[in-house]
Amino acid sequence: MFNIILFGPPGSGKGTQSERLIAKYHLKHLSTGDLLRSEIAAQTVLGMEAKKIMDKGELVPDEVVIGMINSAVDNNPQAKGFLFDGFPRTKAQSEALDQLLSAKNTAIHVFLSLEVSEEELVKRLSNRGLTSGRSDDTNEEVIRARIAEYHKKTSIVADYYQQFDKVVKIKGEGTVEEIFNRLCFEIDKRLS
Ligand code: AP5
Repeated sequence: MFNIILFGPPGSGKGTQSERLIAKYHLKHLSTGDLLRSEIAAQTVLGMEAKKIMDKGELVPDEVVIGMINSAVDNNPQAKGFLFDGFPRTKAQSEALDQLLSAKNTAIHVFLSLEVSEEELVKRLSNRGLTSGRSDDTNEEVIRARIAEYHKKTSIVADYYQQFDKVVKIKGEGTVEEIFNRLCFEIDKRLS
């Protein structure tokens, strides 16, 4: 198995690059944001509770997202590896993920961190908000709250993986193709 965490602030390109990476490396894409939006679309109790939190730009409780990831990993026993996008976002989520993978005799192989300036993030998300229908993209206040939540609670996740020497910083500005090539270069080094 080969497992990747694609990390970065809101709007750094995790979803965009994940689509390309899973096609190239045949990994299973697990995005907690997508899983939560599926719950919202299905109007489940979990989805309705999560929506209130997401619309404020805050993080959904750890136990909710950890439970979703546990089920998703269990439901994909044939996967060649996982690409985690938007998870883990707290130290508790990181520890839970390590335990979950260790129970399956595997681990995170590389932590790829997309680095993008705040102004570029706000520009990308505001542009997407014009057409995406994502309620957390529609006003700049919520976009900035998501970025603040990232600095307050999520950026420390990189420190957690740094202690295991797994973090690689990737310049997340440039064309989608340029960034994809930078990511592939780091992955290929570890696969060969
Ligand atoms: P989530 O769905 O994970 O969203 P996010 O982290 O805010 O990230 P985005 O999807 O907005 O951005 P991205 O980095 O994927 O960039 P993208 O490729 O889309 O989370 C949403 C919410 O769910 C959270 O706020 C939280 O409430 C909750 N949640 C999720 N996971 C959680 C967890 N683990 N714990 C607790 N709560 C959780 O690109 C953005 C835009 O930029 C697109 O329009 C794209 O076309 C464009 N773009 C991409 N690359 C480029 C480029 N190189 N140049 C120009 N434009 C580009």
